[in-house]
Amino acid sequence: MAGGPVAAGGGVGGSAATSKWAGIFMSAFAAFGGILYGYDTGTISGIQQMPDWLKTFGHPVTPSDTFPHGYGISSGTQSLVVSILSAGTFVGALIGAPAADILGRRWGIVFSCLVFAVGVAMQTASTALGLFIAGRVVAGAGVGLVSTLVPMYQSECSPKWIRGAVVSVYQWAITIGILLASIFNNATKNRPNHSSYRIPIAIQFIWAAILALGMFFLPESPRWFIKKHRDADAARSLSRLTGLPEDDPDCMAELDEIRANLALEEEIGESSYLDCFRNGNNKIRFRTFSGIFLQAWQQLTGINFIFYFGTSFFTNAGIHPPFTISIITNVVNVVMTLPGIWGVERFGRRRLLIIGAIGMCVCEYLVAIVGVTTDKHNLAAQRALISLICFYIAFFAATWGPIAWVVTGEIFPLNVRAKAMSLSVASNWLWNFGIGYATPYLVNSGPGNANLQVKVFFIWGSTCFCCILFAYFCIPETKGLSLEQIDSLYEHTTPRRSVAYRRQLLAQEQSGAAVHVDDKA
Ligand code: GLC
Repeated sequence: MAGGPVAAGGGVGGSAATSKWAGIFMSAFAAFGGILYGYDTGTISGIQQMPDWLKTFGHPVTPSDTFPHGYGISSGTQSLVVSILSAGTFVGALIGAPAADILGRRWGIVFSCLVFAVGVAMQTASTALGLFIAGRVVAGAGVGLVSTLVPMYQSECSPKWIRGAVVSVYQWAITIGILLASIFNNATKNRPNHSSYRIPIAIQFIWAAILALGMFFLPESPRWFIKKHRDADAARSLSRLTGLPEDDPDCMAELDEIRANLALEEEIGESSYLDCFRNGNNKIRFRTFSGIFLQAWQQLTGINFIFYFGTSFFTNAGIHPPFTISIITNVVNVVMTLPGIWGVERFGRRRLLIIGAIGMCVCEYLVAIVGVTTDKHNLAAQRALISLICFYIAFFAATWGPIAWVVTGEIFPLNVRAKAMSLSVASNWLWNFGIGYATPYLVNSGPGNANLQVKVFFIWGSTCFCCILFAYFCIPETKGLSLEQIDSLYEHTTPRRSVAYRRQLLAQEQSGAAVHVDDKA
């Protein structure tokens, strides 16, 4: 029978069911990595506005709305400080593949925490821009590693019936991280002697320590053990994750399925990055490109425009009080990720991606239209803008935010999973970098160009339109399928027909009929 029978819930008794939940908790715990990610990306927008930070790293300027304390930094430096993190994360995401394969998923995550902590130490200690920027690159490498390893670990360790929800918890943790950053920034922003920015930066040691310590107690991914031909370890690990004895038939069937799948993939041989782009009958190239583009489109929804530069955007658009509004947008992001976690297993990945892109597209065009057609002092227009931005964030949070990570964690075959995953995550960071770098030039466009920033929403509206097409043509429905069944799905059908094929796979599984990877649609 096809893998993850435990997942279907059949035959899992009372006490085993309790352990099953313990297993789900274990794979969900790794989501704590999202706090590192979200907090680190979120903290910078507030820190850059702190008088103490500006005095230390900026230069004297004539007091203005943007720099009321008489110290400022140029748009170029602002861009660099924000976006350089993504340069580090890009590299970290690429190192993620060898780390995941050599160290294993679990020790790979511990290693990420160490790299991250070194970067945090450099930033905390620095009083010169050079060291601060270098620290952001190193911390970024840690975040890049985390963002490759955590969703991979979670996808491989959680039962298939709840895998989407478990990986979505990672995105939820990212949003909580961003929110925590804005709260800590606000709490310390006026403290003296560098502590205003050093405290929110140093707090990140705590997040890294919790994740690293927690990983000591979690099992390694059984799929990684099988890949390393450590079958006994794989059985032990799967047993901890499912709450079933090692010799339970369901457990053994799942291990057999992973083994059979890997054997099939090993026949093709040891994989390289190039293999991610070679097309066999399991459509690896298409899958790799789908992952790379899915992550790119997630960034091109424009979400980080709000999270990185929200405060400046709201100030320049005359929307007050900008800091409070940034907290509101963060809260919407956190709260609306919860229906996403629930919906991903209820409505599926494909449908939610399409609905989310339509919702974001409409909201962003409306923001642009309201923004360019009304006066910036018009209160009703400002309220409309804030509401539309909140709706846009809500659509993102409930769909593309979590689901891009869920889909990236599950669509690659085991023999190239680590590499294809790290390429996709690197693509996320590359676009993240591009957007982080380009936007301050639009946001700080000066009084003569007050509407320019809001016009950016025409671009985001159009990219969201492309997201609708991309999801429709390229993303299959994978809800409730084991990672091995997903291989079969890619082999035999197209994303547009995947809904019916998936139903057929599940029906076959229910009826107890063998589902082999070479079944025909
Ligand atoms: C996703 C994006 C990330 C963004 C976050 C906002 O995780 O990948 O770039 O900051 O959502 O919630």
